[in-house]
Amino acid sequence: MSIPTKFTIASLRAARVSGRKVAMLTCYDFTTARLMSEAGIPMLLVGDSAANVILGHDTTLPVSLDFMITIAGAVKRGAPQAMVVADMPFGSYHQSVRQGVKNVVQMVQLSGCDCVKIEAAASHAKLIAALADAGVAVMAHLGLRPQSVRLLGGYRFQGRTAAGAEQMVETAQLLAKAGAAALLLEAVPPEVSKAVVDSTQVPVIGCGAGQACHGHVVVSHDLMGLTPKAPRFVPVLGDMASPEKAVFADYLRLVESGEYPSNEHNYEMPPDELAKFMRRTETGANNIERKAKRRLS
Ligand code: KIV
Repeated sequence: MSIPTKFTIASLRAARVSGRKVAMLTCYDFTTARLMSEAGIPMLLVGDSAANVILGHDTTLPVSLDFMITIAGAVKRGAPQAMVVADMPFGSYHQSVRQGVKNVVQMVQLSGCDCVKIEAAASHAKLIAALADAGVAVMAHLGLRPQSVRLLGGYRFQGRTAAGAEQMVETAQLLAKAGAAALLLEAVPPEVSKAVVDSTQVPVIGCGAGQACHGHVVVSHDLMGLTPKAPRFVPVLGDMASPEKAVFADYLRLVESGEYPSNEHNYEMPPDELAKFMRRTETGANNIERKAKRRLS
């Protein structure tokens, strides 16, 4: 069941109205994008969690804009029918509105993504307005913002206090008013995300944010059981690590035992060319042998 028609920001807005729940997954490469698209996943997030699950960093901070553009392009090529949302990495939109617009334009032009996501505070309202003016769909990511992990003091759920929750709702309203096309709430209690949903007009994607959200996203490596420990809100739906490891171990055994490659894996020369080649190598080997004997005598 692949995606029948291109899923767009208009489709996401329609889902908010109709109540259709939208599935979104993180994706970082062409092949997985193709498989997700063939499975019918309408929205793919090229998350800067690539820093963790692809590059092996402890935080999302080290990933570069060039890297994000490269993998977002790969995902887009693998899933042209999906709505591809690309994360803007740490440092690429923090200096000024001008810097943010320049880098977002680069991301959109070079990767072909349909939407960009920024981890947003109220201070990003101007940037979001400028991007909306430029015709860019922006998803504003609130709640747990992994790019601010040093400030937050760890990966803890957000909106823990009444004041914190109220502030998050106000920021969501501000950014939606500024022109954000969608919101994403990460690690937020369901009452807080419900308040955001009820007090804004834009689609809200949850990542550990309860049932009220219009769509839900998780890191695909967590979903597939490829990471050692997934956050509590992730439904770990498979153990892809074991079959992968089994395939690697089989390959190791075949190579080390000499079973691979066998004749079925070999390329074949046309018989006449093979015969010619064998005669030449025989003559070549004889010549070498003769020369060696002469040297010894
Ligand atoms: O980078 C990412 O994967 C994300 C999701 C966790 C929302 O931003």
